Amino acid sequence: MATLIADQLASDPRVLEARELLDSALRDQTRKLTGIQAPDPARAVDYAKIIADFSHNRAGGLYFPYLGSGVGNGALVELADGSIKYDFISGIGVHFLGHSHPLLLNSGISAALSDTVMQGNLQQNRDSPPIVFLLLQLAKNAGSRMEHCFLTTSGAMANENALKLMFQRKPGAVRMLAFEHGFCGRTLALSQITDKPLYRAGLPSTLPVDYIPFFDASNPTGSTEKAMLALRTHLCRYPGQHSAMCLELILGEGGYWVGDHDFFLRILTELKAHNIAVWFDEIQTFGRTSRPFAFEHFDLAQWADVVTVGKLTQLCATLFTPEFKPQPGLLSQTFTASASAIAAAQVILKMLLEGDLFGPGGRNMHVHRIMTQRFETTAARRPQLLRGPYGLGGMIAFTPLDGSEAKVKVVLKALFDAGVIAFYAGSNPARIRMLPPTSVVTQQDIDTVCDIVESTLVACADI
Ligand SMILES: Cc1ncc(COP(=O)(O)O)c(C=O)c1O
Repeated sequence: MATLIADQLASDPRVLEARELLDSALRDQTRKLTGIQAPDPARAVDYAKIIADFSHNRAGGLYFPYLGSGVGNGALVELADGSIKYDFISGIGVHFLGHSHPLLLNSGISAALSDTVMQGNLQQNRDSPPIVFLLLQLAKNAGSRMEHCFLTTSGAMANENALKLMFQRKPGAVRMLAFEHGFCGRTLALSQITDKPLYRAGLPSTLPVDYIPFFDASNPTGSTEKAMLALRTHLCRYPGQHSAMCLELILGEGGYWVGDHDFFLRILTELKAHNIAVWFDEIQTFGRTSRPFAFEHFDLAQWADVVTVGKLTQLCATLFTPEFKPQPGLLSQTFTASASAIAAAQVILKMLLEGDLFGPGGRNMHVHRIMTQRFETTAARRPQLLRGPYGLGGMIAFTPLDGSEAKVKVVLKALFDAGVIAFYAGSNPARIRMLPPTSVVTQQDIDTVCDIVESTLVACADI
């Protein structure tokens, strides 16, 4: 068998040498990022103008004046204004390996050598099948019945594909169930499932959704009964009309409220009794709890019919059991993902399979433990500064000060200016959330960030 030309290119000595040169240049340059740095005053005017023009052209301001320079080092990132900050939000969960990771350079070189920028449904390269294989392997290892996996570009597209599969399986059942304060994406259909009026202001009502209150750890029995009552009421009101329920096992945008096995079990049992599909939206939770899938963490694998994953996977996917196999024509698209996203996904999924992220002593739970301990120490000394609950695994949150949206905004801006990037979640109370790159973040990074969180809260307490 003759060696493929693509393989000859990959092993061309010039390519191998270039890889080494690029790797050493990357390491030499990125190790210059050693800690927080203030913006360069000489860049301030130009930077402000670029941000202002960009905001105008895109018809909406940026939440932070953030434009990355394109380089970083682990949890540290350089901005185009010359500042260096701790990125503890990771593009809302995307930059799993932090910034400028050598493995991503390497996978990016492979992608750059491939013949096209994008890959699509009609013409995919040989890099896509291993992604599907790895995702299914992870799902099977978790004990689920996932047999199929369809790749796509964004979380919203993975969720749209999930919706189509579930509606097609049960014709005539046109309603959805979802948790109150859940987030599912921003398409016309998904903005109905997403329980945030602001995100669907002015939009037509495209999909009927019935909401169920989420678990409340401060009142497990009461909140479970309340949820069951709501569920049964919806089922009685619209018999046979629910296709599926979207379950976020940890409310993401809704505030990092963590669910509970027994709570979910009651709901899932009822859903199955009514032939309603169980859809775990793991776009945000995937890879962040004690197990690759959050459904595994909560010991719910056997209940999963459809699962969507995204963010840290770099491309997104809909996994499903044989009963949800689509009829021809239902799923397709021009783009599966970029060649670089596909190459990076391979690296990351292998890391999820083989790395030290999971289990009670894995990096996700370890990072959560040490950050929680720091927050608890602060809260014990000065309870008015912050309070829990603190989320789960690599999804970390706290309620700052009075929990008002106004105060959260002030704190986030002050944190940004002090060199820490975090974000908000939920309302009433509004919370601050962090998605640190658990695979690379260090104890020193965490200590510095927690110190800054405390001093920033102190400074904002009286504002
Ligand atoms: C739970 C959940 N579902 C869906 C989405 C939508 O994903 P995307 O923004 O990639 O479309 C998100 C994004 O934050 C999410 O957190």
